[in-house]
Amino acid sequence: MITAGGIDEVRRLIGEAKKAGKTIGFVPTMGALHEGHLSLVRRAKSECDYVAVSVFVNPTQFGEGEDLDKYPRDIEKDSAMLSAEGTDLLFFPTTDDMYPDGFDTWVVPGGPASILEGERRPGHFKGVCTVVLKLFQIVSPDKAFFGQKDAQQFTVLNRMVIDLNLALQMIECPIVREADGLAMSSRNAYLNSKERKAAVIFNQAITRGAEIIKDGNSTRDQVITEISKVLSKEPLARLDYAEIVNAEDFSVIEKPRGVVYILIAGFIGGTRLIDNIKLKIEK
Ligand code: PAJ
Repeated sequence: MITAGGIDEVRRLIGEAKKAGKTIGFVPTMGALHEGHLSLVRRAKSECDYVAVSVFVNPTQFGEGEDLDKYPRDIEKDSAMLSAEGTDLLFFPTTDDMYPDGFDTWVVPGGPASILEGERRPGHFKGVCTVVLKLFQIVSPDKAFFGQKDAQQFTVLNRMVIDLNLALQMIECPIVREADGLAMSSRNAYLNSKERKAAVIFNQAITRGAEIIKDGNSTRDQVITEISKVLSKEPLARLDYAEIVNAEDFSVIEKPRGVVYILIAGFIGGTRLIDNIKLKIEK
């Protein structure tokens, strides 16, 4: 694995790999890596000849009062994990590299960015789209790999790729979970042991939602009510939202049909967690 010193070196190394006829896979991350991130790297390795990974805690996607300062950072551990997976190129740009003095051009997404996470975290997807477009411009990958864990992020970025005619393929990879069902997340590190045990309720709630939605007769309201009921059994958990959306465009569905995401967001103590299940309703 080569760790690039800067953006110019990334461009040079990618250019060389392309000249040698290699296809480029790209996995953007914010570090504090876990098996979820590594699953994307493995998928990229299986589909591409040359795999680049970025680690950058992007300040512009954090709102005021969010966890930018305390977001876990351990570049040495991340680097060792990525090297062990056979990553070809790692780069971790600085904030000055990505946002030099005078930076003032933004990608402002519409449609799927306007609800749920977009509503609760104003500016979040603007920061995500801007940094990911910049990273795409630096790496120019053939394929980019993202997790279903952040389903709305995937949908928003996919829209950006279509709308801005980016010549790359977006790949959505399944959610990697802990043994008890909790979706892996860098933010799980904030949970104490009691909270960690309680956090499993989010997955239990949407799993119950998935059970009742499968019959094809349940309405959105019925499913959300059931999800809220399951969540209310855990005193440490607080629901932010539960929602059912069309997987194509993230529009809310009153009578769930076709491929949908059942989404949940909430708090355990001060920690905000999200999870979802994607499923096809046959009826
Ligand atoms: P980060 O939260 O580090 O996640 C990087 C990628 O890993 C995302 O595509 C995310 O969906 C995926 N991921 C996280 N947990 C996962 C899990 N349990 N299973 C499968 N995939 C998982 O998402 C970001 O960083 C940033 O917003 C970024 C796209 C890098 C832009 O700054």
